[in-house]
Amino acid sequence: MRNFLFYISFLCIAGIISCNTKKESSVEEVPFQEKHRPQVHFSPVAGWMNDPNGMVYYEGEYHLFYQHYPEASVWGPMHWGHAISKDLVHWEHLPVALYPDSLGYIFSGSAIVDLENTSGFGAKENPALIAFYTYFDHTKQGINQTQALAYSVDKGRTWAKYEKNPVVENPGIPDFRDPKVFWHEESKQWIMALAAGQEIHFYASKDCKEWTFLSHFGEGYGNHDGVWECPDMFPLKVKGSNETYWVLIVNINPGGPAGGSATQYFVGNFDGKTFKSDQKKAKWADQGKDNYAGVTWSNVQDGRTLFIGWMNNWQYAGEKPCIAWSGATTFPRELGLEKDGQDIYLTSVPVREIESLYGKNISFSNLEINKSKILSERFLPMAAPVEIKLVFDQTENSKMGFASIYGIRLKNAKGEYISIGYDNKDKLFYTDRTNAVGEVFSEHFSSLHSFLYKVDTSQIEWRLIVDMASVEFFAAGGRVVSTNVFYPSEPFDQIEVFAEDGTIDLVSGSITELKSIWK
Ligand code: FRU
Repeated sequence: MRNFLFYISFLCIAGIISCNTKKESSVEEVPFQEKHRPQVHFSPVAGWMNDPNGMVYYEGEYHLFYQHYPEASVWGPMHWGHAISKDLVHWEHLPVALYPDSLGYIFSGSAIVDLENTSGFGAKENPALIAFYTYFDHTKQGINQTQALAYSVDKGRTWAKYEKNPVVENPGIPDFRDPKVFWHEESKQWIMALAAGQEIHFYASKDCKEWTFLSHFGEGYGNHDGVWECPDMFPLKVKGSNETYWVLIVNINPGGPAGGSATQYFVGNFDGKTFKSDQKKAKWADQGKDNYAGVTWSNVQDGRTLFIGWMNNWQYAGEKPCIAWSGATTFPRELGLEKDGQDIYLTSVPVREIESLYGKNISFSNLEINKSKILSERFLPMAAPVEIKLVFDQTENSKMGFASIYGIRLKNAKGEYISIGYDNKDKLFYTDRTNAVGEVFSEHFSSLHSFLYKVDTSQIEWRLIVDMASVEFFAAGGRVVSTNVFYPSEPFDQIEVFAEDGTIDLVSGSITELKSIWK
């Protein structure tokens, strides 16, 4: 898998075997109602999507570009698809922004607003949006990736590729891609973080066009079981303090904690030249199987650090059930930092704009769960898309017979389910997805994955965003995050809480209908 060409051909072959390669739908024909179609997550109208790219906020619009093959629902010659949103939740599909050309396919990257017109592409009164991306020249073996840029002076509606592309030549590294560019105020220059093999390389520029190599980071740090991809870097304040650290996001494939692709991060400092971190071990932004290539929006005006990922895993992305489109994003998340003793952790929570989707709601309190209780039938005749909040009493000593395992199960009448649980003995959260598909399509999909986490508060709040084919799980204020997709033969329409070998008190909770973003 380390040879990128092999990796790409593997994906194509896997996809072509399992999917029809014809474009099958358009906005007019598809009311976004097909089986498995996400209702509260972004997905392309038709064709394939993987990484979110070039996310930038400008003049009231959140732009979302993405790795896109419009002709088929499999990976292919990469374009940048494009969508915009005024509220991060409802999306408008726009025409493809960047097409492949003689220099190659358009791989992942980032976008900025050149407010001071350092590049000369726009004007201070009408700044250019500049997109940085990787050219992947599929006609070449080995060294085939370079960095390039395109600019727009009409709010991202049309793009001109820079005539002197590429702006960063390949120094002889096979995996050399996914530029993340940001303005570093202290050193008054643009910084580019680039995935280079199993390292991140940093470059600097005053004008976005001429780039100078600064430093590299990676050897001896974090996980190295796969290729490093899609970096991001930003400063974040530690909650409840005035301390600020730089967070370096590094996506890796494979090597993730639940198998396949995942997002690790490092907390440290950046002085305009070098990123330094005391953290030698990988920390993971999401413990689930399906949050990859996530990066943050640039130029966000309200101080939030906003993140979105691709809700999929390269282990089986090309083999998903055959549908007219492939791929979706995670729900947008707000990132934060939290200190726990000497350790600093990244937190993620769904953006507050989710509230604009809230519909009917039911709430409950003081339920003692013994074995299991169906919440949906009792309270609400539907199960997706919904937001579920559950507060569990975790004071084990308060009573006899405290459950050894408790949790929540989404299921259907066919006996298919996905469950998320907490194991009180071994102090771990787990996701059981061993029976969450109607039709087995990949040996890597079925899984029971877990991660250690000791709940040391007397209560813990669980929050789940359940869509037609995904569940995003957040607990402990966003320290615990796990995103997983599923493809049951019939939608999961029951929500059940369970407790094994004892009881658990569900102190309070709610189920809130989420209105479709496409209606
Ligand atoms: C990550 C990735 C990137 C690359 C893109 C190609 O998912 O492999 O490194 O730019 O996808 O589509």
